[in-house]
Amino acid sequence: MKSQVTILGIESSCDDTSAAIIRDGVILSNIIANQKIHKLYGGVVPELASRAHQQNIIPVVDEAIKQANIRKKDLSAIAFTCGPGLLGSLLVGISFSKGLSIALNIPIIEVNHLQAHILVHFIKQNKKKYYHPQFPFLCLLVSGGNSNIVLVKSINEMKIIGQTIDDAAGEAFDKCARVMGLPYPGGPIIDLLAKKGNPNAFKFNKPLLDKYNYSFSGFKTSFLYFLKNELKKNSHFIEENKHDLSASLQATIISILMNKLYKATVDLNIKEVAIAGGVSSNSYLQKVFKEYAKKYNWRIHIPSITFTTDNAAMVAITGYFKFLSRTFCSINVLPFTRVNI
Ligand code: KG4
Repeated sequence: MKSQVTILGIESSCDDTSAAIIRDGVILSNIIANQKIHKLYGGVVPELASRAHQQNIIPVVDEAIKQANIRKKDLSAIAFTCGPGLLGSLLVGISFSKGLSIALNIPIIEVNHLQAHILVHFIKQNKKKYYHPQFPFLCLLVSGGNSNIVLVKSINEMKIIGQTIDDAAGEAFDKCARVMGLPYPGGPIIDLLAKKGNPNAFKFNKPLLDKYNYSFSGFKTSFLYFLKNELKKNSHFIEENKHDLSASLQATIISILMNKLYKATVDLNIKEVAIAGGVSSNSYLQKVFKEYAKKYNWRIHIPSITFTTDNAAMVAITGYFKFLSRTFCSINVLPFTRVNI
């Protein structure tokens, strides 16, 4: 029965292969296969990521269709991440989507990964009334590859008003964790270790940038040199201080993120504020975000944990909205690697 709009979403921009089914805006399934192989190398290895996507994509899509309890012929369209991301990884999802769309004779929809991260806030868990941001709102989009403040005027109208000029916040978490000898991805481990630490134990440099832009490379370097210095005096410094180090570095990153977000809300007089992306699952960021909301009277939106890191449900919901406006793409569409909303 095709009067309903049923979208298969496919995400393969980095190191997660994911497929999801959304019907009329309601999520029916969301399958994510993580790639453990990158842990061995301390970061994502692009060539290995694309090979793993090739192995994962068919079983992941099959499982998404099975769990949603639909048939392939019920699909109205296929939405896929077109960029930004790793070229080889994107190509796997795009080529698969094109092939399946030809076989099923249904349209394809290209999806911007950043727009999709923000639109997770519009996924319905069931047909009941749902709580979603009112336009215009500001979204702090923080992941392993991006740190942006986005002004969201409507589903289709988004403007990046601030962005990192070097590393992303997730990258800062991961790189500092690596210097501490922690495995990849370091963000969630720092979050855990920090729970038993003092956020004021150590002070690190914070950048002074205009407007709403971010920079994390100076902080990362100051963290590295601080550790090198301390290790000269005490070779067990990291092990003995891992909780305080994690809490202090986490507090520095979150304070850099929140200061600029706060400035944007004041300048633009917007009190509707959301967070999205992998780093938005950070428990300290969520705590501070809630404190700001209370203090400044913000209406806030925090995604559930499955929707913070890369997932295909966000691609499927973006595809659903594009389907409603009949925004399909040509079979000749190509991936893009750089930020662009
Ligand atoms: O959104 P995502 O899955 O992938 C990208 O599009 O980049 O984000 C992954 C990033 C990694 O840098 C990871 O360390 C970070 O999100 N991350 C966290 C936490 N969970 C994931 N960073 C801090 N605290 C967390 N709890």
